[in-house]
Amino acid sequence: MVAVNRRVPRPRELAPLLQFRRPTLNRTERRLQTAFTIEDLRRIAKRRTPKAAFDYTDGAAEDELSLARARQAFRDIEFHPTILRNVATVDTSRTVLGDTVAQPFGIAPTGFTRLMHTEGEIAGARVAARAGIPFSLSTLGTASIEDVKAANPHGRNWFQLYMWKDRDRSMALVKRAAAAGFDTLLVTVDVPVAGARLRDSRNGMSIPPTLTLRTVLDALPRARWWFDLLSTEPLAFASLDRWPGTVAEYLDTMFDPTVTFEDLAWIKKQWPNRLVVKGIQTLEDARAVVELGVDGIVLSNHGGRQLDRAPVPFHLLPHIARELGKDTEVLLDTGIMSGADVVAAAALGARFTLVGRAYLYGLMAGGEAGVARAVEILSSQVSRTMRLLGVTSLDELGPHHVTQLHRFTRGDSRPVG
Ligand SMILES: Cc1cc2nc3c(=O)[nH]c(=O)nc-3n(C[C@H](O)[C@H](O)[C@H](O)COP(=O)(O)O)c2cc1C
Repeated sequence: MVAVNRRVPRPRELAPLLQFRRPTLNRTERRLQTAFTIEDLRRIAKRRTPKAAFDYTDGAAEDELSLARARQAFRDIEFHPTILRNVATVDTSRTVLGDTVAQPFGIAPTGFTRLMHTEGEIAGARVAARAGIPFSLSTLGTASIEDVKAANPHGRNWFQLYMWKDRDRSMALVKRAAAAGFDTLLVTVDVPVAGARLRDSRNGMSIPPTLTLRTVLDALPRARWWFDLLSTEPLAFASLDRWPGTVAEYLDTMFDPTVTFEDLAWIKKQWPNRLVVKGIQTLEDARAVVELGVDGIVLSNHGGRQLDRAPVPFHLLPHIARELGKDTEVLLDTGIMSGADVVAAAALGARFTLVGRAYLYGLMAGGEAGVARAVEILSSQVSRTMRLLGVTSLDELGPHHVTQLHRFTRGDSRPVG
């Protein structure tokens, strides 16, 4: 044993070590200060949100393999830093679809957002305005196009289109978005029919949520969510007030499964600004839409909520970016849980990324303040990862910065980078 010289403790030396912080009085802020990762926000969200709403957000289709694999692909990244670069300042901005963004990520379109937290899309749009990132409003959004514009009046708003069987109604929304100055239309193409979201079926999910004995018991520790639901404007979007089944069942009654490439060309003719196709999963389809003259594509499997065991978008990225990156802007989503994931995607050729659940976990954890916390976490991870890699701008990132451990092998997959 090492002999240590001991002495009587001196209070004078202890004093500078005692740094009691002034307690944060706001309970939401206090809660959010304990979150350092998106996974931390997810844990808080789960405690505060009724099971049916949390599972609708957190869940994916069938066995949820598409989502699990997409997240795993990001975890399996190996970064290759360069050293001895001056990284005192770092610039995370770039031009995306003709305009500047402050970060290489933006908010993905999500339906029924007020089901997760009563502040819904407006919280997302307001945070996007402050952060200088785009906000995307879904056809199934629970805030109007005009209210989103009012919440993000000078920033970038994108509208996501689902083609309904009643095409006039879909195109009326597109016209409203153009009139409100939305600069980009995201046409989602991976929902010919809804994926099987089994958690929703098992939870007996309905819109708005119904009070059964089970939901009442579930509500007891989550009284705040129910109070918010009942004390604010009823949950509704466009024409739907009440639907007794799951969201997937609703989608199947409303959506047009006959949409083809010709329809995409038809939509493009009616949209005056940038058009991006969301839900591309093969090089051939990417080529076909680029030939139609679209401004960008989103490699996405809809956060694993549609086809299960779909390609991992991050695996598709290097090849498609190499083949088509000069002709179109390649965007990516699905599975992003950290700013490091965003940086890896940028290194492999993604011009931009979208985050769905990462933002929604923040929303459920604390409304607008929770979304702000999510964006703050992602932004600080982006700039820290860039500095640790030895780069000061996104354009300096390249495939040499990232390789991937080959947990999954696909017949036609190529090594990343
Ligand atoms: C709760 C929820 C609702 C969604 N609703 C829509 C939607 O209405 N339209 C759409 O194009 N994509 C929708 N998506 C997919 C997202 O736009 C995005 O592709 C996906 O969330 C990305 O994966 P991530 O959640 O892992 O970030 C939804 C995703 C979630 C989680």
